[in-house]
Amino acid sequence: GLEVGAAVAGGGHHENQEYPDPFFFDTEYRELLANEFTSLTPENQLKWDFVHPEPDVYDFEAADAIVEFAEQNGQDVRGHTLLWHNQNPAWLEEGDFTAAELRAILRDHIRTVVGRYAGQIDQWEVANEIFDDSGNLRAQENIWLRELGPGIVADAFRWAHEADPSAELFLNDYNVEGINAKSDAYYALVQDLLADGVPIHGMGHQAHLGLQYGFDPGLQQNLERFGDLGLVTAITELDIRMELGEDGVPTAEQVAEQARRFSAVLEACLAVDSCESFTLWGASDLYSWVPHTFAGQGSATPWTEDLERKPAYCALQRTL
Ligand code: XIL
Repeated sequence: GLEVGAAVAGGGHHENQEYPDPFFFDTEYRELLANEFTSLTPENQLKWDFVHPEPDVYDFEAADAIVEFAEQNGQDVRGHTLLWHNQNPAWLEEGDFTAAELRAILRDHIRTVVGRYAGQIDQWEVANEIFDDSGNLRAQENIWLRELGPGIVADAFRWAHEADPSAELFLNDYNVEGINAKSDAYYALVQDLLADGVPIHGMGHQAHLGLQYGFDPGLQQNLERFGDLGLVTAITELDIRMELGEDGVPTAEQVAEQARRFSAVLEACLAVDSCESFTLWGASDLYSWVPHTFAGQGSATPWTEDLERKPAYCALQRTL
């Protein structure tokens, strides 16, 4: 019953990502998405700057195409994301709005975007990365938290639920794989939200990992504790990057260790009843965000730039 998903590349705003969405022109890539996955997440195509570029303009073209593709292939879609501190349009971040106006802007956005895909987008990552690594709310960076206070998170969930009562609504963040200050903050927040009757259904663990860091053995236990609160859990953005030498080619050791870690994450998810979805942040190194974001690092997905399967792919298959 586990959904196995991938982020659908496109809509990036890195200098070197100014190609058109590969989803629209790369047939081999589309086939890979259709054949290997049961769930898709638009990587950027539902973020504010992409979908809501001007105050009165929504652009659903790319997201529509992904949702339609997923329907044709019988796949789930995870919506990403509604309340975040990144990839917001300048008109929003630099606008001069009162608190009441901002509240109305967020409510209308959520109603419009979630409402458009009601019954089609199965899970929404409503609030993304609202805590920093110390477990403090991002009360400065995040325009919604800064201008409207922490209560806006509950409102965002309520509005999303009104717009699509059938969608599962998630919190989502990175560095919440193990048990630490940040995942503790989410654990406490979830309990508060549930006590207040807020429609929250899931906790998303991004899992942007790197071979140069240790592997936190607490993942399974952490998934379990969120499941014990009655939530579903999900691995939402798994990739495992590594530092590459001048030639850009991983060593045999790195290749093997990456395979072990991909399957270790999958094993943890499979071991926990609440873990219903396992999504990779990229289905090929060719379109991965990693080289554009982390200098000197790459090879973070289970497929090479030529869309060849790596040992990580085989390790995942064996674990499934
Ligand atoms: C990344 C995309 O992969 C890039 O293409 C984009 O330029 C920046 O955002 N956590 C998230 C994702 O929740 O939305 C981010 O995606 C990666 C980190």
